Amino acid sequence: MASTAADTTTSPVEMTSPKLNGVAKNQRLPKSPEQLLKEKRRRICVFSTKGYDRTFLTAALKALPESDKMELIFHKCALDIDSADLTKGSGAVCVFVNDNVGKDVVQKLHDNGVEAILLRCAGFNNVCLTQAETCGMFVANVPSYSPEAVAEFALSLLQTLNRNTHRAYNRVREGNFNLEGLLGRTINGKTVGVIGTGRIGVAFARIMSGFGCKILAYDPFQSSEFEKYGEYLTLEELLPQCDFVSLHCPLMDSTRQIINKNTLKLMKRGAMLVNTSRGALIDTDQVIKSLKDRTLGGLALDVYEGEGELFYNDHSDDIIQDDQLMRLMTFPNVIVCGHQAFFTEEALGEIADATLENAGDYVKGMPCPNSLVRNKHLLVRRDSKPIRI
Ligand SMILES: NC(=O)c1ccc[n+]([C@@H]2O[C@H](COP(=O)([O-])OP(=O)(O)OC[C@H]3O[C@@H](n4cnc5c(N)ncnc54)[C@H](O)[C@@H]3O)[C@@H](O)[C@H]2O)c1
Repeated sequence: MASTAADTTTSPVEMTSPKLNGVAKNQRLPKSPEQLLKEKRRRICVFSTKGYDRTFLTAALKALPESDKMELIFHKCALDIDSADLTKGSGAVCVFVNDNVGKDVVQKLHDNGVEAILLRCAGFNNVCLTQAETCGMFVANVPSYSPEAVAEFALSLLQTLNRNTHRAYNRVREGNFNLEGLLGRTINGKTVGVIGTGRIGVAFARIMSGFGCKILAYDPFQSSEFEKYGEYLTLEELLPQCDFVSLHCPLMDSTRQIINKNTLKLMKRGAMLVNTSRGALIDTDQVIKSLKDRTLGGLALDVYEGEGELFYNDHSDDIIQDDQLMRLMTFPNVIVCGHQAFFTEEALGEIADATLENAGDYVKGMPCPNSLVRNKHLLVRRDSKPIRI
């Protein structure tokens, strides 16, 4: 089966031999229920697709052996309670970071006969896993795809903010070569705080240690991999020491607004904060206050709490209603990008391959190393190992 841009309905089998078991050429035989079920399982409704998603997923599909082929039905729209009806007749949905796979949507998918939710991303905070567990659905993500892609982007943000390259770029285009206001700091010898030392946090620590920085980290689950580059401290010990802080933990109840009024107060005056993880790790109101009183020296965001309404689409003709985001964008020392840290050719290729591998495990009923929910059991990995919560 192949990828398609429109919904398809199941079609009866076409006989190819002139006469087989007494059936004339081109005579249509009804499909057996088993055959229809098998076909449904292989049909994946892919939401929130852009041209690049279609390109990389189609290429990954082409590379699969014939026996593992799926049918991909690409939708440009995001998955939500209204678009969930597009999934009828499909065995699986494939979603991205801003698709809404909350409790009611999971239930609707289940009612529509969908059995699997395939995330083509690492974060799964937009999926109600407990409802998927109740409904007995298969859920899998792509936990690791070029962590260096995100870590390198965090570094790019950090250095752009620190050296004011974003301002220099605009000035020079206007013929303004004045350096006033562009003063940065040499990062060699500075102290960098890494919150969350999973795949991306460790990759970021490795990069920053290459710059000759002192690396401190906070993570309730310490990793020997990180210890090659720096030292673990509590968050309260770490924040007052760091010139730059970069967030690399997932969004969970325990990490929501990990950067808040209290933790902002602990930060070194003038320190810069980088967030490439999830917007809600930050209390945006409090961050704006800290930027206004200059206690926070700069903010670089690739993610934003209200991004679901805006990111990945062109709103240049709209009046953007999000006043917090618009306020943030007025600061000279704030950079906002539209959730693009993952966006490299390498990462898109890895995401597409891993998504189809997860889909193959679901179709074949095989154990999937990337399962978050399987056989009515909720699994969440802290790192590569699944742990039961
Ligand atoms: N901007 C992007 O394009 C992009 C791309 C991929 C991932 N991400 C984000 O990056 C996050 C990290 O990705 P990863 O692959 O490194 O994940 P990971 O699972 O390998 O690592 C997450 C780390 O966070 C730690 N952690 C858990 N609770 C914590 C807490 N309370 N405080 C501090 N640390 C805590 C875990 O112990 C783990 O070591 C993802 O959850 C996702 O939200 C963003």
